[in-house]
Amino acid sequence: MTGQSTAYLLGINQEELERLRFQHGVWGGVTNDFFERLKISAGQKCLDVGAGPGFVSMDLRKRVGEMGEITALEPSKMYLEWFQQHAKKNGWTNVKFINAVVEEAELPKRYYDLIFARWVIAFVPDAEKFLTKLISALRPGGIIAIQDYYYEGLSLFPRGGAFDRMAEVVRAYYRSGGGDAYITGRIPALFRKYGLRTIDFSPHSLAGGSDSGVMEWAHRFFTVHTQHMVDKKLITQGEGDAVIADWHAHRADPDARFFSPIVVDVAGVLP
Ligand SMILES: C[S@@+](CC[C@H](N)C(=O)[O-])C[C@H]1O[C@@H](n2cnc3c(N)ncnc32)[C@H](O)[C@@H]1O
Repeated sequence: MTGQSTAYLLGINQEELERLRFQHGVWGGVTNDFFERLKISAGQKCLDVGAGPGFVSMDLRKRVGEMGEITALEPSKMYLEWFQQHAKKNGWTNVKFINAVVEEAELPKRYYDLIFARWVIAFVPDAEKFLTKLISALRPGGIIAIQDYYYEGLSLFPRGGAFDRMAEVVRAYYRSGGGDAYITGRIPALFRKYGLRTIDFSPHSLAGGSDSGVMEWAHRFFTVHTQHMVDKKLITQGEGDAVIADWHAHRADPDARFFSPIVVDVAGVLP
């Protein structure tokens, strides 16, 4: 990752790229419902912040059409190059790329109709700095839309196992990287402080059994990152092993259910 002091907590590698692709398959419907409510339309200029390999940018591009413009901002060269290649292969000429963190990026002033950030602001150490930088790039009447955690609600049913305390541990994991897994709770106050009017605040949770996309999504996260939480001494090795054993027991139970943490859509308009 270029120009950033703290590395992206979840990593830059092929496994994470595939996890992001799968994640978009599971949550893309929620994201696109948000775009519907925001009435993203043909000809608009959008900035996809922390675009990763560009899965959201691809959906936004369909909405704005050939007359619109998408800019993917992403600090990881690997993810951005993957998306650049994809755009080139498809002959897309209305996609721009910025390889930087928001905090250090050169952004045009008062330019974008929509600035969108999904699962990015929860990782950044200074959310206020991040947001004010983005606001300066928004045209009057433009919208900043954020999809991110209010990290409550994570649950495996039946309850009673080692997994029960994982919401608290994941929040600590985010804090260990300088982030805040409750970030969406703070956004309306930040919008107010910087003159934006909150126009949407909608929480979502997905749930399913062992054959569901949402449980597979969580599987790809917890089977990799529980060990990282152990390595960061947020839980002991014994506790981590017990979490994984509890996870596998629920995955083997056709009647068990997984509930995702709450993801909030929050949007503000610049008058
Ligand atoms: C969980 S991924 C989400 C990717 C994409 N938004 C999506 O929803 O598929 C978070 C992305 O944010 C990027 N990122 C982390 N800190 C950032 C910052 N300060 N400015 C811009 N992007 C950042 C990471 O490199 C990573 O690609």
